[in-house]
Amino acid sequence: MGEIGQYWNPLLDTSKLNLDAHWMPFTASRAFKASPRMIVGGDGHYFTTDDGRRVFDSLSGLWCTGAGHNIAPINEAIAAQLSKLDFAPSFQFGHPLSFQLAERLGELMPGKLNRVFFTNSGSETADTSLKIARAYWRAVGRPEKTKLIGRAKGYHGVNFGGMSLGGIGPNRKQFGLGVEADHLPSTLLPENAFAQGMPQYGEHLANYLEHIIAVNDASNIAAVLVEPMSGSGGVVVPPQGYLERLREICTQHEILLIFDEVITGLGRSGAATAAEKLNVIPDIINLAKQLTNGLIPMGAVMLREDIHAAFMSDDLPAHGIELPHGYTYSAHPIAAAAAMATLDYMEDRNLFAQANDRAELLQRLIHDLKGTRNVVDIRNFGLAGAIQLAPRDSDPTVRPYEAGIALWQKDNYVRWGGDTLQFGPPFDSTDAELEQLFVQVGEVLESID
Ligand SMILES: Cc1ncc(COP(=O)(O)O)c(C=O)c1O
Repeated sequence: MGEIGQYWNPLLDTSKLNLDAHWMPFTASRAFKASPRMIVGGDGHYFTTDDGRRVFDSLSGLWCTGAGHNIAPINEAIAAQLSKLDFAPSFQFGHPLSFQLAERLGELMPGKLNRVFFTNSGSETADTSLKIARAYWRAVGRPEKTKLIGRAKGYHGVNFGGMSLGGIGPNRKQFGLGVEADHLPSTLLPENAFAQGMPQYGEHLANYLEHIIAVNDASNIAAVLVEPMSGSGGVVVPPQGYLERLREICTQHEILLIFDEVITGLGRSGAATAAEKLNVIPDIINLAKQLTNGLIPMGAVMLREDIHAAFMSDDLPAHGIELPHGYTYSAHPIAAAAAMATLDYMEDRNLFAQANDRAELLQRLIHDLKGTRNVVDIRNFGLAGAIQLAPRDSDPTVRPYEAGIALWQKDNYVRWGGDTLQFGPPFDSTDAELEQLFVQVGEVLESID
């Protein structure tokens, strides 16, 4: 048996690591391997790099560690769970913690979205929600309702369903035929450049759904899947009235409305969900990321009670499986313990409210950068923001890349994606942390051609 910590040696000379074998996700691998950015520690709002620097984590990992790093009560809950129950078969058997977690999550959701199907990531959550939507319509005797609708610039992870409904071209183009899907237009309008929070103009874009319905007929359409605010697309913010209008059309035509709240859920929007914050209640809400504060992979599809009930028919023999779907690691006991401890921690510290409070400061600081070199738009929603940069030599991705690298060298981890820099700092970031971050962002942007 190996010694505790045998795989973790903080004194390891990372320059001697062989980087060849690991094919990294969503990474410019050749550039990374030529000049690696190695993180060897995380505590509070900061990472430690292999050259001993403290780096501010301005995206909460990948939008997932909003409570910060190295949170003792969450770590302890995971450690304690390991020696009590490390794994339980998720098919045909259960363990108490997942039922407690499910009930608790249901209480945090608006409407009656209190039934839960557990997954292990945002991507699995997206595909699970789409499969449940189609299976639901079969269960209620309308099997022809199969068509799925996403949105341009949307992101629902990388599995075939989520990829197909997603609308970020570069994420789709290498992978051939996906699941058949139509797309609503993006809500990113040039008229709304530099709008603070939710833009006033653009509600009418929801009406495009009526066009899709006219072409396909609602009797063939299962669901619409959108993020209330699209983080990966570059903090694409819904115009005022837009989500309400989508809700109205979906209700009128009996189409399920699914909110992908993998980023906005559990604090980022300044409330338990963006649905609650905006008072637009979908039929299904997808969660992941913040559910375990990023420590252990876990996702959850939150369903309205009656959608779940439609599957629990007496027509099926008692031993019949109502939904032949699930993952070996669905409701994993370690993930469930991490989620319970995360929810406790966020509740004890009032972190949703803190995120809501910090959102105002973020809005002010990020919009102060209007007029900075190459900045063509700035957007914000909840404790999230993005700065869009002009293309150079018709390449929209080069300036964000260069800015992200320069910020890393100035002790800030800032995510670059597409034509934007993206920000989703810890829920309890201090004034000084946010002020310093955006001062440095401004300086770096001025220094880039
Ligand atoms: C809205 C949304 N859905 C789904 C996903 C995919 O999550 P994962 O990377 O955990 O599969 C993401 C990830 O950024 C996301 O932002």
